[in-house]
Amino acid sequence: MSTRFRETDRLQISTVGKVRSQLRTDVAFGLRQSQKTLPPKYFYDAYGSRLFEDICQQPEYYLTRTEAQILRTHAAAIVRQTAGASLVELGSGSAVKTRLLFDEYQRRDHLLHYVPIDISASMLEETARGLLTDYPTMSIEALATDYLAGLTVLPNTRPRLVLFLGSNLGNFSPAEQTELFQHLAAYLHPGDQFLLGLDLRKSVEVLEAAYNDAAGVTADFNLNILRHINRELQADFNLAQFSHLAFYNQELHQIEMHLKSEVAQDVTIAALDLTVSFQVGETIHTEISRKFDAQEVKEQLIGHGFQYQSQWTDPDNRFLLSLFRYTG
Ligand code: AVJ
Repeated sequence: MSTRFRETDRLQISTVGKVRSQLRTDVAFGLRQSQKTLPPKYFYDAYGSRLFEDICQQPEYYLTRTEAQILRTHAAAIVRQTAGASLVELGSGSAVKTRLLFDEYQRRDHLLHYVPIDISASMLEETARGLLTDYPTMSIEALATDYLAGLTVLPNTRPRLVLFLGSNLGNFSPAEQTELFQHLAAYLHPGDQFLLGLDLRKSVEVLEAAYNDAAGVTADFNLNILRHINRELQADFNLAQFSHLAFYNQELHQIEMHLKSEVAQDVTIAALDLTVSFQVGETIHTEISRKFDAQEVKEQLIGHGFQYQSQWTDPDNRFLLSLFRYTG
């Protein structure tokens, strides 16, 4: 872990692991598969993180709005049940929703210690600055890295509340989900808590609309993974020759996003010394967004040493927040 800077006693931003060499390995691996794939964490360069914030404002993308509504309605109960904890957030982004909890902690004079973990260092920095201004007693230890690496270097202070909001878990395959829960069990201490936000199963129409917004923001977000690779690995993806595809896979209960090659083409990735050929209609699978059965996840967490505490949903049961305590 390298500390990029410590500005005041209230802010520290550290980078964990080698983000750049990881990108090279992941891209080389993913584009050599017969079904080409790219990991969704590479949507989130500075521009992609902003596009995601924009997605959250789209009328079809109900997830953020619904989760915020649940947080607003139940902030008092959540804060009562998590008093005194340091807040660790996996994939903190703009932390707009987290502010609903910060406000409630502050109303109760809790000392706020926040550990945001995010792959985008620029987003971390911007978010942290805004928080320091708005919450004068908050201290921040930010970690620029992915979730698993971040969990290995958690500060060892007070009981911790790990926030995993926004249905970010949906990006994980079942195997990766198990790995994450094992990781949590390995790095949390008994008494630490886990607040998990999950998008629940619902009609195909509602789900598919959420990933095909009329304004085309999700399409631009999907294509941004190619922009990111063009810049970081000197590749020559022509974005005009790929199109956005998002559909619900009913058997696997997941939205799948792909980038479809509209023509037969070769793409060169100079930094990898690699040329990749695409057939007409061939896709790169960029993301899964799994939709959850609440009971299944609850039982799995219990199997990993967590105790179920509470859950909160919205009137239409679109989204679920669940609170667990790690007991070991
Ligand atoms: C941030 C991973 C929860 O899967 O819904 C939004 C990302 N992808 N639109 C999701 C996303 C396309 C989002 N997560």
